Amino acid sequence: MSQAPGMEHLFSPLQLGEVALGNRVVMAPMTRARVPNRIPNTSTVTYYAQRAGAGLIITEATTVSAQGNGSVATPGIYNRQQITGWRRVTDAVHEGGGKIAVQLWHTGRVSHASQQPDNVEPVSASAVAGNVLTFTENGFEPTTPPRALAVDEIPGVVEQFVQAAQNAMLAGFDAVEIHAGSGYLLDQFMRDGTNQRTDDYGGSVENRCRLTLEIVDAVSAAIGAGRTGIRISPMLVTWDCSDSDPVTLFSHLVSELNQRPIAFLDVLERNDASIAVSGDDNADDNEAGVRRIREAFSGNYIANGCYSGASANAAIASGYATAVGFGRDYISNPDLAQRLLAGARLNAPADPIDYYGDGGDKGYIDFPSLAE
Ligand SMILES: Cc1cc2nc3c(=O)[nH]c(=O)nc-3n(C[C@H](O)[C@H](O)[C@H](O)COP(=O)(O)O)c2cc1C
Repeated sequence: MSQAPGMEHLFSPLQLGEVALGNRVVMAPMTRARVPNRIPNTSTVTYYAQRAGAGLIITEATTVSAQGNGSVATPGIYNRQQITGWRRVTDAVHEGGGKIAVQLWHTGRVSHASQQPDNVEPVSASAVAGNVLTFTENGFEPTTPPRALAVDEIPGVVEQFVQAAQNAMLAGFDAVEIHAGSGYLLDQFMRDGTNQRTDDYGGSVENRCRLTLEIVDAVSAAIGAGRTGIRISPMLVTWDCSDSDPVTLFSHLVSELNQRPIAFLDVLERNDASIAVSGDDNADDNEAGVRRIREAFSGNYIANGCYSGASANAAIASGYATAVGFGRDYISNPDLAQRLLAGARLNAPADPIDYYGDGGDKGYIDFPSLAE
């Protein structure tokens, strides 16, 4: 296959911590809600194997415990069958020449009692309910108001992430990505709109970042910092989870991460292309905030959010990004990396109705590659 002009930065190899990547195209983590019993199945194997041309696949958000579950048909990595199911996925991706990390997820309050063991209420930093719906057996339902985790329960939450990371190694993953973005449990601890604690895990920016950093350190100690990455979405308000000063908050987190030899920091910078170009005040604030947070980090930086092949290549060429994550384009283009390399046209975007669940294999594993 011939190479499109000027894609050499995106297609240069990369040592990402302990993981050697063939190129710098990263498949961003995407929930697809197609595993009814939370165990990866044959379609999951096919879906990820089709995308093995990425330098690195980051899986859909995968729960670290039954307590971490928040909606139907999302996978976990806390029991033996799940480890076995994921092993089939990682084997298939490795056979295709790719590398794969699992995104480790605890939904916190973005959950419903029906998704919790014994139908108990979900947990969060504080008993602050979100104005949020989640997908249950009955369709979209309001989330169940959470209870605050007791301080003596917090080591158990850290342990859930450690056990899940160890399970990931058993399942053959190359790395893990700790999900600290998108309004889930770790974001709920970090942001002052959801954290009203008065103990060591609330109040100051240092205290609110404590749980996330404890998890980074404990996971790094268990599986190696060179196999440990983290994702944040600092300037976005997701699932009603907001902060009064996200630039200060996440600049602190990132400067702490910068002192740790982690494999990568993955940042969802924006979720709407119009934000990057619109020039309105909020959009400019968003972009300026992302810049400041990015400048606080000198390790491997995976930039994500509305990148094209050309803008990704330019971001790497300028030294802004080490690698670039692609989300939606990977849904409809299983061979996205090969298409970017060849300068080939992309398939029509997927219908958002097929993003999650119900459709089964439709809109999941039925997008043609170039060769097809
Ligand atoms: C269907 C769908 C599911 C997603 N699920 C997750 C997820 O599980 N974890 C996560 O961190 N981000 C998730 N995201 C966000 C993507 O990783 C990515 O940040 C976002 O799509 C922006 O990248 P893009 O502009 O290349 O699509 C999801 C996005 C989509 C479209």
